[in-house]
Amino acid sequence: MPRYQRLLSELPRSPQTWLITGVAGFIGSNLLETLLVLGQRVVGLDNFATGHRRNLEEVCDLVTPEQWANFHFIRGDIRNLNDCRRALYFPHARGAMPVEHVLHHAALGSVPRSLDEPIATNGANVDGFLNMLVAARDAQARSFTYAASSSTYGDHPALPKVEQRIGKPLSPYAVTKYVNELYAQVFALNYGFASVGLRYFNVFGKRQDPEGAYAAVIPRWIAAMLRGEDVHIYGDGVSSRDFCFVDNAVQANLLAATSAARARNQVYNVAVSARTDLNQLFEALRQSLDSHGVRYARTPKYRDFRPGDVRHSLADIGKARRLLGYAPQYDLHAGIAQAMPWYIAHTGSLACPSAVQLAAR
Ligand SMILES: NC(=O)c1ccc[n+]([C@@H]2O[C@H](COP(=O)([O-])OP(=O)(O)OC[C@H]3O[C@@H](n4cnc5c(N)ncnc54)[C@H](O)[C@@H]3O)[C@@H](O)[C@H]2O)c1
Repeated sequence: MPRYQRLLSELPRSPQTWLITGVAGFIGSNLLETLLVLGQRVVGLDNFATGHRRNLEEVCDLVTPEQWANFHFIRGDIRNLNDCRRALYFPHARGAMPVEHVLHHAALGSVPRSLDEPIATNGANVDGFLNMLVAARDAQARSFTYAASSSTYGDHPALPKVEQRIGKPLSPYAVTKYVNELYAQVFALNYGFASVGLRYFNVFGKRQDPEGAYAAVIPRWIAAMLRGEDVHIYGDGVSSRDFCFVDNAVQANLLAATSAARARNQVYNVAVSARTDLNQLFEALRQSLDSHGVRYARTPKYRDFRPGDVRHSLADIGKARRLLGYAPQYDLHAGIAQAMPWYIAHTGSLACPSAVQLAAR
């Protein structure tokens, strides 16, 4: 039986205590939903910088009241060491229980945001990361898994990307995510506190925010299509990405947290190992909407390339397969099929009347 299937059947029999930082965000709230359904105890930490209370409310609606009672939320900031220390204990009638597994996801994402706000990005992504490492080390957490990023490959031209070959960073965001990896290595070397970094490649799925200047491409385009607005492609549309459905990322987290010692103090690509260019992505989204009765007849509008963006991205996921037992269950099309009903339901109220009518057919 694949390792993940085994884990999914074992975890409910032996509930453990987890901390998810960035729990009100996209990936964090998907981790929360999975862990609560598996009967785990979860502390969540978030300051709502980019996450939303509505994401937590949605998870509350999706789990049973008994499962929800296993969640303890702390509104706090990873830039504050005391908030991080506080989050490492799950309050319990018989006294506080120490957190066993940390899934550190709080950060300011987005390459363009980091170009606009390098200091704020550094504060959350570097200072906050170091605080969480120190707090988890001091609390003797059993595992520490953190969100690294494919942006760390920077200007290295080789495809597919293998973990040990990286180039120079192209944005402040990429610098912060690489610094995370360096701190993680140094903590393993000096304090014996070995963590696991997951280099995500363009994760997408339900609860990924479609709004705002820094929205990721898939939710932004779906929202534009639902509203009957133009879709903008930066560059010629031939830039490519390895789009990874969020359930694959959740799988990687659970495997990493429960991995053997030899798999620790490592970074892993988390993707599907399939390349899709932006023109193909546009077509896949258009067709998926079409299958839900939403016709989008416009062609995309092309704009200049954006500074800081890499041209192509494709992951070699062999290391995660070998050492973690990672086996992604969703490719791009299966992921879009899962995510689309959520976007239609949640972007519907914002959509233009014609798109709403079509969606309802
Ligand atoms: N989504 C992707 O494609 C992708 C790719 C590579 C890496 N990542 C990384 O994965 C992690 C999660 O990303 P996401 O897409 O879910 O983003 P998100 O913005 O939806 O979630 C991040 C969460 O962190 C919280 N946060 C930010 N600063 C904080 C602070 N100082 N204190 C406490 N909470 C804070 C936000 O409020 C938000 O809820 C981030 O570390 C991101 O850099 C994501």
